[in-house]
Amino acid sequence: MSKNILILPGDGIGPEIVHEAVKVLATLRDHHGLDVELDEALVGGAAYDAAGHPLPEATLALAREADAILLGAVGGPKWEPLEISVRPEKGLLGLRSELGLFANLRPAILYPQLADASTLKPEVVSGLDIMIVRELTGGIYFGQPRGVRELENGEREGFNTLVYRESEIERIMKVAMEIAGKRGGRVCSVDKANVLECTELWREVAIRIGRDHPEIELSHMYVDNAAMQLVRAPKQFDVMVTTNMFGDILSDCAAMLTGSIGMLPSASLDENGRGMYEPIHGSAPDIAGQGVANPLATILSVAMMLRYSLNEGELADRVERAVEQVLDDGLRTPDILSPGATEVGTEAMGDAVVTALLQDPGHH
Ligand code: IPM
Ligand code: MG
Repeated sequence: MSKNILILPGDGIGPEIVHEAVKVLATLRDHHGLDVELDEALVGGAAYDAAGHPLPEATLALAREADAILLGAVGGPKWEPLEISVRPEKGLLGLRSELGLFANLRPAILYPQLADASTLKPEVVSGLDIMIVRELTGGIYFGQPRGVRELENGEREGFNTLVYRESEIERIMKVAMEIAGKRGGRVCSVDKANVLECTELWREVAIRIGRDHPEIELSHMYVDNAAMQLVRAPKQFDVMVTTNMFGDILSDCAAMLTGSIGMLPSASLDENGRGMYEPIHGSAPDIAGQGVANPLATILSVAMMLRYSLNEGELADRVERAVEQVLDDGLRTPDILSPGATEVGTEAMGDAVVTALLQDPGHH
């Protein structure tokens, strides 16, 4: 039976990069037997402009039906003056929570071809392969109460709530342990247990779940130290598991180790492996519409979709090989440009990946 994929281009560079990723999906459909139907809908600022809300009912309904979702990015200066409840970001957060996408996988892999593009010394980052598992539907992003209130003296006070239930911590820990079991066998749980009760509980639950997985080496680190270790000696990490907000911050940091945030895909999965796939970089309004954005993170997100939601591991390998091929060929968008490479724009990069896919004989 044909699988239904919902395409949500969003804002800023979203439509440009998603366009290239859709070319890749279409190539797999037309030439490699991938049985998919593609649908498209509005989210974020684009949806607010057209329908008055960043996550219209129609989009949410399609998202609930879809086997997988590919999202570009949301947000931009145009919508910053809006009230927080209708800002583009709410479209993304609404999708995550409405669909129960609690497990966010953010791999940070350094492609050897890009070792020079990192701001860190090659010996610090070469061979880097970290998986950040970020809790995505809880914590301070969603905790109640929240808001801005007026005190008796007329001063205003902003407040948010960091809250995690044991069951929420348990399920994300299990995901982290399972993933670690398929790779390096090590999990580092990141918290701030020295200050925050909520993450003291986080650590306690981590230790409990760890006991069910004696084959996994579990360690714990405070988030401030983890940020430092990520830039000091990032190769010490295999899987990192952490809260929603810490994961947001650490994953941007980890992305930069790999040369460019324009290279990193992500998967956001529910209990059953249904998922939403998106580059982690955001809408980059400063370069939107110029045709220079790097589409590789979005194309690599398609690879993650093939692997995690569509059960097409072999096609996922093909897409990743095609990306490596264009890097081997020396093609670079401006964000990963290095001396001697060939500078290309968004579309040329997408076309090159498609060509590499078509030329790949499929040998391993
Ligand atoms: C991310 C982004 C989002 C987040 C924003 C756009 C709401 O930064 O996916 O990392 O904070 O989760
Ligand atoms: Mg972020």
